[in-house]
Amino acid sequence: MKVLVIGSGGREHALVWKLSQSQRVDKIFCTPGNAGISEIAECLDIKTDDIGALVNFAKYEGIDLTIVGPEAPLTAGIVDAFVKEDRRIFGPDKLGAQLEGSKVFAKEFMLKYGIPTAEYKTFTSYLHAKEYIQLKGAPIVIKADGLAAGKGVFVAVSVEESIDALKLIIKERAFGSAGDKVIVEQCLKGEEASFMVLTDGKTFIPLATSQDHKTVFDNDKGPNTGGMGAYSPAPIITESLEADIMKNIIKPVIKGLAKERINYRGIIYAGLMICDGKPYVLEFNCRFGDPEAQPVLMRLDSDLFDALKAASEGKLKDIKLSWKNDASVCVVLTSKGYPGSYEKGKVIKGLDSLKNRDDLMVFHAGTSVDDKGFVTSGGRVLGVTALGKDIRSAKENAYQAIKKIHFDGMHYRKDIGDKAIRRKIKI
Ligand code: AMP
Ligand code: GLY
Repeated sequence: MKVLVIGSGGREHALVWKLSQSQRVDKIFCTPGNAGISEIAECLDIKTDDIGALVNFAKYEGIDLTIVGPEAPLTAGIVDAFVKEDRRIFGPDKLGAQLEGSKVFAKEFMLKYGIPTAEYKTFTSYLHAKEYIQLKGAPIVIKADGLAAGKGVFVAVSVEESIDALKLIIKERAFGSAGDKVIVEQCLKGEEASFMVLTDGKTFIPLATSQDHKTVFDNDKGPNTGGMGAYSPAPIITESLEADIMKNIIKPVIKGLAKERINYRGIIYAGLMICDGKPYVLEFNCRFGDPEAQPVLMRLDSDLFDALKAASEGKLKDIKLSWKNDASVCVVLTSKGYPGSYEKGKVIKGLDSLKNRDDLMVFHAGTSVDDKGFVTSGGRVLGVTALGKDIRSAKENAYQAIKKIHFDGMHYRKDIGDKAIRRKIKI
């Protein structure tokens, strides 16, 4: 079978790596891919937003399954375009992708189907939003409605800060039309976790749990990023909490999607805040998390191709997923300055010594190759992902490997996994 993976991050490298292990997969294409992906797949230079060209390529090359990594092509309707041409694709259609593409849509959906989430109001007017913030006080959360590359959410600790965020979104239009509507939301206190399920719209299978680390510095300090590391499993999600999430969040979501006649064959990712043992949805994503996919897919024993193909065909009831007992930790290495501006083209050394290990994968994100070898080409550069008998040993394994890697300005958090380790000790 021929597979096309769309995207260029660590998540896509993990997807391609796992798909390459399938007996059914003969050839993998990836567009645009990165330097690590190009070692196991043929990388193309079709733009991820050029839906017409992607459909044509899938038709011309006879691709059996296309898998969409990032959210933007999904919200732009890539699945609808493929389905119209009778091409098999994994991901929700345009309407389903609104769960991520519009925070207003997601909040209204949650309200309609009784899914626990923070109290909120939607505004189009700066003055009305400002009045509401002054009434509610801080801390408070301000969110641009549309996609803003992870930068459209502001957890404001003071009224002034929240009004600054409001100005940035509505008046300065920092996110363009993504800021036509703004959500002002109650600030929830607790611990975050990521809960992903694979669905064909009828059956749903939870993936291994995971936890992301959003901020750039240790101890959850500094600005939010796309994710600085993740581990799996997330011990905060106990068996009883998982049952609660399935009953009160996932089932109502699936039911709601069916009621709204939304064709959802993909991943539903619920970003949760666990407050006093109760799960609340902060956001939905309509695709695998990045970097959560890296440790989660490291732990997957089953054939990923079979699972994603079955989901795309509405046959997920035939699939069972099995997971390694090992834990996994992924530490993201970034360019100096990320999530702000950063330089590219720094030579990456040490990767050869970490090849061919069953317990370790260095997933590439912002990398390319030039005459000096691997060089940096993005903010998030590599995701060093290790297995271990528990989170502590997976963490040690990942950080030992990082000692062998070097590029100028390399930055990473030193505390990935610590929350899970502390929780285990408490128990
Ligand atoms: P989102 O893109 O909606 O996941 O928001 C990005 C990050 O902002 C989340 O991972 C949380 O850390 C934080 N956040 C979002 N909504 C809230 C909320 N209602 N209360 C507290 N923190 C939040
Ligand atoms: N790691 C968070 C995300 O993928 O959106």
